[in-house]
Amino acid sequence: MVELLDEGFDVLILDDLSNSSITVLDQINKISNKKPLFEKLDLKDKKGVQELFLKHNDISGVIHFAASKAVGESVVKPLEYYENNLVPLINLLQEAEKTNRSFSFIFSSSCTVYGQADQLPITEEAPIKKAESPYGNTKQIGEEILWDTVQSNDNLNVISLRYFNPIGAHESLEIGELPIGKPQNLIPFLTQTAAGIHDKLNVFGDDYPTPDGTCIRDYIHVVDLAKAHVVAIKRLKEEKQNESFEIFNLGTGKGSSVLEVIKTFERVSGEKLNYEITARRNGDIVEAYADTYKANNVLGWKATLNLSQGIKSAWDWEKKIRNKS
Ligand code: WQD
Repeated sequence: MVELLDEGFDVLILDDLSNSSITVLDQINKISNKKPLFEKLDLKDKKGVQELFLKHNDISGVIHFAASKAVGESVVKPLEYYENNLVPLINLLQEAEKTNRSFSFIFSSSCTVYGQADQLPITEEAPIKKAESPYGNTKQIGEEILWDTVQSNDNLNVISLRYFNPIGAHESLEIGELPIGKPQNLIPFLTQTAAGIHDKLNVFGDDYPTPDGTCIRDYIHVVDLAKAHVVAIKRLKEEKQNESFEIFNLGTGKGSSVLEVIKTFERVSGEKLNYEITARRNGDIVEAYADTYKANNVLGWKATLNLSQGIKSAWDWEKKIRNKS
């Protein structure tokens, strides 16, 4: 939102506040000196979405982030994930179609659609494999829904952004990740462990076929990710896209192992992290990092922040929300 506001976009935030706080609007205002419009809305509520598009009858684009994203949780609650990640998408697309005007749609997708890619780095042409989790499947199905809708609607132009592993917080430390309950992802669990909330970090396996035995991921700073969305929506608004449905991998192009992440944390924080090697986590893939050629040379976006900066911002954010010095 901050990046969109800074670029002069009129922004309306829709959120059901099930996994976020309304206070974020004040924090956005503090950073941008602009307060975005906000509507509390459950996007699964078809009538509510219809009424919203009638009330805000000049909406010409959507960046659709609203989805559940915990891989492990999706295995336990598949129907909740299919409902929460797909019904809102369909409701938004149906209203977009009804506007009968050129409509830009940015979809928050994921590198999980590739599963364990056969070739690294991973390009957008890598084959889509059977999803390893309902979460990953909702991203694959979401892209299929968008592809089919674009074929039947000349007004709709879509960019699907396949995120690798987002980490970090805004440099102002006004906004950052606020996981509800025990975080599933590595970085928030790591920083919470360092903040004393957990006694140790479990490293899920060190017997993988990688240099140090732990899994490798492409950790991308969330601010770089945000900037990519501005570039993407501008691309659609300025009708620069090459086809009506484009896909871009959003990563740094560099893979880092879990142990490398831990060592980087200890270096940038000066803290010693308590961790233990434990059993592998079901569903984990061994290695994933992005081929950034298309994002850099077609989309015209490149990650500028590195792993150390991402981890440092995550740690600074953790200390702030825990009122630690
Ligand atoms: C990273 C690595 C774990 C926790 C995420 C998101 C998914 C998608 C892709 C955007 C793995 C290891 C983790 C812990 C650990 N992103 N780990 N101990 O699984 O790559 O998926 O990125 O759509 O939404 O979930 O990320 O942070 O869970 O795990 O050892 O306590 O850290 O085994 O190798 P993952 P993650």
